[in-house]
This record gives sequence, structure tokens and C-alpha cells, in this order.
Amino acid sequence: MIQKGKILIVDDEQGFCELLENILQKEGFDTVSTTNPIYAQQLLEKEDFDLAFLDLKMPEMDGLELLNYIKTFDENIVVIIITAYGTIEKAVEAMRKGAYDFITKPFQKNDLIRLVNKAWDKRKLLLEMSHLRAEIQGRYSFQNIIGKSKPMQDLFDLISKAATSPCNVLIQGESGTGKELVAKAIHYNSSRKNKNFVCLNAATLQETLLESQLFGHVKGAFTGAYKDQKGLFEVANGGTLFLDEVADMSPQVQAKLLRAIQEQEIIPLGSNSPRKVDVRIIAASNKDLRQAIKEGSFREDLYYRLSVITIYIPPLRERREDIPLLAMHFLHRYAKEANKKIEGFTPKAMELLCNYSWPGNVRELENVIQSAIFLETGPQITTKSLNYDGKLTKVSYSPQTLAPKENNDLLPYAEAKRKFEREYLLKALEKCGGNISLTARKTGIIRPNLYKKLKKLNIHIKRS
Ligand SMILES: Nc1ncnc2c1ncn2[C@@H]1O[C@H](COP(=O)(O)OP(=O)(O)OP(=O)(O)O)[C@@H](O)[C@H]1O
Ligand SMILES: [Mg+2]
Repeated sequence: MIQKGKILIVDDEQGFCELLENILQKEGFDTVSTTNPIYAQQLLEKEDFDLAFLDLKMPEMDGLELLNYIKTFDENIVVIIITAYGTIEKAVEAMRKGAYDFITKPFQKNDLIRLVNKAWDKRKLLLEMSHLRAEIQGRYSFQNIIGKSKPMQDLFDLISKAATSPCNVLIQGESGTGKELVAKAIHYNSSRKNKNFVCLNAATLQETLLESQLFGHVKGAFTGAYKDQKGLFEVANGGTLFLDEVADMSPQVQAKLLRAIQEQEIIPLGSNSPRKVDVRIIAASNKDLRQAIKEGSFREDLYYRLSVITIYIPPLRERREDIPLLAMHFLHRYAKEANKKIEGFTPKAMELLCNYSWPGNVRELENVIQSAIFLETGPQITTKSLNYDGKLTKVSYSPQTLAPKENNDLLPYAEAKRKFEREYLLKALEKCGGNISLTARKTGIIRPNLYKKLKKLNIHIKRS
């Protein structure tokens, strides 16, 4: 039999202690019993217990008092109250004070066995959660960035190195992998930390506006330029400029950005006089910039200026060991915000989180947990509140990855065909929200053939 946890039994009836010990040991538990609650306190100091059975009525000390002692000593010890008929009210009070459940004397053996195994599951869950919490507070966190996987641990090193260097940094990674978080960590660990960290998203602005945002303008530079306006390069002077979605910059803005980096000066729109700036640039993109260079939409010379240090953040599905830690981190943060006491996830809920493909990466995980906290009414997050819309058990597929690829300019025909088919189907699945019937209809491939192809191309389909 598998060795289960260790149980402390405190009851003033010697015979009852023996009876309990007998049954619990046969269930695989290690037990220690005493009829004296004061001695029980000493035992707690000396030994580690997982569960405790406490009698409520003892001559030397009230069971509630001992419960209190145990809970302040180690709140993760799961306590079961032993009570006689007629004192159930007191048992209920004990549960309000942190006892897990109660059992009435005399009891049915099967009821006891069911209860102790349930309590043991609870204990294991509490231990797992407190283990995760300790990991989050320890070396698996760096400036609010959580991760225990090898790539994340390497990333922490790289961030520290990048922070002490003056070089420009390029961060690549799918949407929601934490690029902005990493950019901030670099800035706030660098010697520039007391100056501004300024963000600009190149995808959201049209060309002239982007130029004027970056380099500023003088009065009359264009219609609507009523006064001189400093650009973000100047706002970030001495600090860091974070250029998000840098692949979306037009050729003209790219040329001006290159010049600004090379000359360390900018010329505001409508002006002729350059101004000196000292800015470190951290650029980010969820598109593969080398691919953009090949396609002619991104300047190679600018790429080399930006990517002196390159950081790649892998998608969450490629570092699944980070999921429990991240899930716990977000649960902790948002349950507190929502003023809800939710201590963890049921094992099934955690399994669901660990198996899903997370196309929206950490941001999606964060959102799922936030809404689960909102929906959950019990003490643990269940699969029901996590997966209320069925999203986590729908077809899962792996979206295209930005991972560095080898040069594959001219592949053998069969390989190129396979690559095309794979990319085509991934895109089709993505467009159809992972719905197989719709994908079959849109692509004109009948369902059985579609399944066969997906399998052959190693596109992972998971059904609940
Ligand atoms: N490793 C991590 N630890 C803790 N939180 C994380 C981690 N990675 C991402 N997050 C959180 O996920 C969310 C998305 O992160 P962020 O905005 O940095 O991603 P991004 O890569 O910039 O996304 P996009 O490409 O869509 O702009 C943020 O709320 C961030 O705090
Ligand atoms: Mg971002």
C-alpha cells in the first residue's frame, strides 16, 4: 500500500484513539495518538503532521483551543473534529474557525475512510499550492516575470546582462508572451532606471502621426501643428524608448529611425536643426523580422542596429511547466483584488490549464483566470468556472511559431509541399476558430480527409 500522510489523533478516550488508529493505519496512514491535548501541543512542535483528528470535549483543554493552536502553528494541517451527537453546533463553529470537516461518534467505518481520504486529497492540494507560492516568491520570479522553465531561467540571465549593457535590444515573441514586461524589466534594472521608460506602438498610428510622435514637430509643420511639440525620443532622453510592433513601420519612418540611431540625433518635423538625444531603444515584434527583411518590408541595416542583443520569448505551449506557477500567480493577484478567498485549483482544473494550447499565451491565461475567479463560488477554481464557454476543451492546434528556423530557401519538393500544407491548414484552423466542420467547409476538404491530413502533418487535435 502507498504510504499516505501522518495523522495526529487527540481524544480523551483511550479506546477510541486505538480504534481510529487501527482503521487509519489499515488505510495506509501513519498515526500518533494521545489522550492529552497539552502533550499534543508538544508533539506538534517535534513532528510534522498532515492531518489531525480532534475531540471537542476534553478535560484539560477545549478542542477549539487546540484547533486554534494548530491553525496558527501550521494552517495547512487539515483538521477533522470528532464530536458526539448533540454537540454538532460546536462542530460547525469549529469549521468556521478553520476545521475541514467533522465526524460524529459513533461513526460508520466507511464514512471515516471516505472522510480521511478526502482530507488527505485536500492536504496534498494545500501543499502543492504553498509549494507553488514559495516558488513564485523564490528564484522563479524576476521583476514580476514568472517562469521556472529552462528558457525562462535563461531569459532572466539575459535580462540581467542586457540591463547592464548600453546596447539596443530586440525582443521577439508571439503576442501575449510578455515582451513589454521584459522591456520594462531591462529598463528598471539598468542605469537608466531613474529616467523615462516611454512606449510607442507603431501599429496603431498612421505614418505622419508616428513620425511626429517619435521626432516631434515645430509649429506649422503640418495642418493642425499649432505649436512646437516634443517627440518621444526627447521625452525618453537619458532613458529607454520601447518601440512595439516595430515591423509595422513604413519605409520612411524606418529610414528616419535608422538615422536617429546612427547619429544619435533627431530632426523634428518641419525643422532643419537636429537635436542630440541619448536614448536606448528596445524594439519588439511578434512578426519574424528576418522574414520581413526577405520580403523587403524591413530594412536590414535597421535590423542590425536594433538587434545588437536579441531576446526570443517562446510561446507558452512550449514551456508548459510555467503554467501552474503563472496560474497561481494570477489567482493570487486577482482573487485578492476581487476580495475572494480561493485557495487554488482542483487537480482537474489544473490539468485542463496544462493541456490547453494557449494561442494567446500568458495574456490569454491571465484573462481565463480572471474570469474564472469572477464566476467561481467555491473555495477552489473548478473546470466549470475555467471552461464555462468550452474554449479550453475545443480543438487545439499549434499556431505558427516564431522560433528561429534554419535557412530553408530551397527545400526538396516533398518537404516544401508538406510545409505549405501545414501552414495553410494552421491558418485555416485559426481563421475558423479551431472548428473542424467549418475548416472542412471552407477548405473544401471533406472531414475524414481533413482529420487524416492534420494527423499526418502533426497538427495536434484534442477533444474533450
Ligand atoms: N512570464 C510572465 N509572468 C507574469 N506575467 C506575465 C508573463 N508573461 C506575460 N505576462 C502578463 O501577460 C500579459 C501580456 O504581456 P505583455 O503585454 O508583456 O505581452 P506582449 O508580448 O507585449 O504582447 P503583444 O505582442 O500582444 O503586445 C501582461 O499582463 C503581463 O503582465
Ligand atoms: Mg506588447
